[in-house]
Amino acid sequence: MMVTEVDQNAQAGFAPMFPPFELEQYLLRHEPRMRVSLCASGLETMSLSALLPLMNAELEALWAQTSLDYTHPKGSMVLREAIAQQYDTLTAQRVGVFAGAAEAILCTLQGLLTPGDHAVVITPCYQSLLSIPASLCQVSTVSLREATGWQLELDRIQAALTPNTRVIIINFPNNPTGALPSLSVLSELVEMARKRGIYLFSDEVYRLMEIDVADRLPPVATLYERGISVSSLSKAYGLPGLRIGWVASQAPEVLEKAIDIKHYTSICVTSPGEVLALSALRDGAAIVERNLQQMRANLPMMDQFFERMGEHCRWVRPRGGCLGFSRYLRDKTADSLCQNLLKATGVMVLPGSLYGPYSAHFRIGFGKKDCKEALSQLESFLVTHRSG
Ligand SMILES: Cc1ncc(COP(=O)(O)O)c(C=O)c1O
Repeated sequence: MMVTEVDQNAQAGFAPMFPPFELEQYLLRHEPRMRVSLCASGLETMSLSALLPLMNAELEALWAQTSLDYTHPKGSMVLREAIAQQYDTLTAQRVGVFAGAAEAILCTLQGLLTPGDHAVVITPCYQSLLSIPASLCQVSTVSLREATGWQLELDRIQAALTPNTRVIIINFPNNPTGALPSLSVLSELVEMARKRGIYLFSDEVYRLMEIDVADRLPPVATLYERGISVSSLSKAYGLPGLRIGWVASQAPEVLEKAIDIKHYTSICVTSPGEVLALSALRDGAAIVERNLQQMRANLPMMDQFFERMGEHCRWVRPRGGCLGFSRYLRDKTADSLCQNLLKATGVMVLPGSLYGPYSAHFRIGFGKKDCKEALSQLESFLVTHRSG
């Protein structure tokens, strides 16, 4: 093993490995002041006392006998089979379990990309979808633009491709914009990737949270032989603390390489986590439907809020997920709005600058019970404070 003190990333002209995770750092810094979140990326979370009674006799027996040993690095076969049911054309062999989508993203991209490669990343996005590839190879970003309604612009993606492009990275429904392309646009993207043998990496953690169910897209792993779908139980299932996520792909090398990396990270997920995940997936449709009720009930309130607040801020109504990316209209940036709102009311919305060059925007969430109270605080703040 060769060990050098040279910063190989800097030498190769890549971004540093693991730069500060801006959004997480912001939350840690400001959480002590926060009384109510109006920016959460998830729905109301489930408790153990809600999940345990859902177990049938077979699962109860499995739960009681669960040994606290290491589990299989790819995840137990029963859990992989339960996950594979979400992917029409895939068997459990093509699914691997990870500690949340976060670990699945890290391990898969680390396994896929080498210094000679090029990646195209659609932004704005969850930071690791950009920071991880940027630390491994050359990256081009293609931004969704508010002026187009945050649409996926295929001609701009086509123009960003190079002979070395190994992967295109997308996340729909998108964090933070709530954007979601049509199936025909996604299919065109698949064809663009297929023509050049480029992997299509798709973060689908907000899948199942479409505002209109008719807009739900098939997982990319089922559409394309080099498609990679990443998802987890954190969002639609309301179980982020379970830390269960996965990768699904028809391409066997994707999972093999990701697991090679996972030996260096978590090694495996926990055995209680696996049984609880199995229980959640067996009752999946009912759990998701119940979790989504709050988000659906909150959305008309959000619509009315933006109608009334038109001189202060606007949004492109999200098509999926429980997040929107609102444009603040009273200042060049929304940074001081976010800070002053938090100071005055304890309500947190997130500055768009955490996502890069989007400082005029702020992220707003509508998946939680206390959305109504938080929204009315934001409204009074906007109306009473002439300068945000
Ligand atoms: C787009 C996106 N991907 C991945 C993650 C990480 O999810 P998990 O809790 O499954 O690790 C998040 C969390 O907010 C997210 O918004």
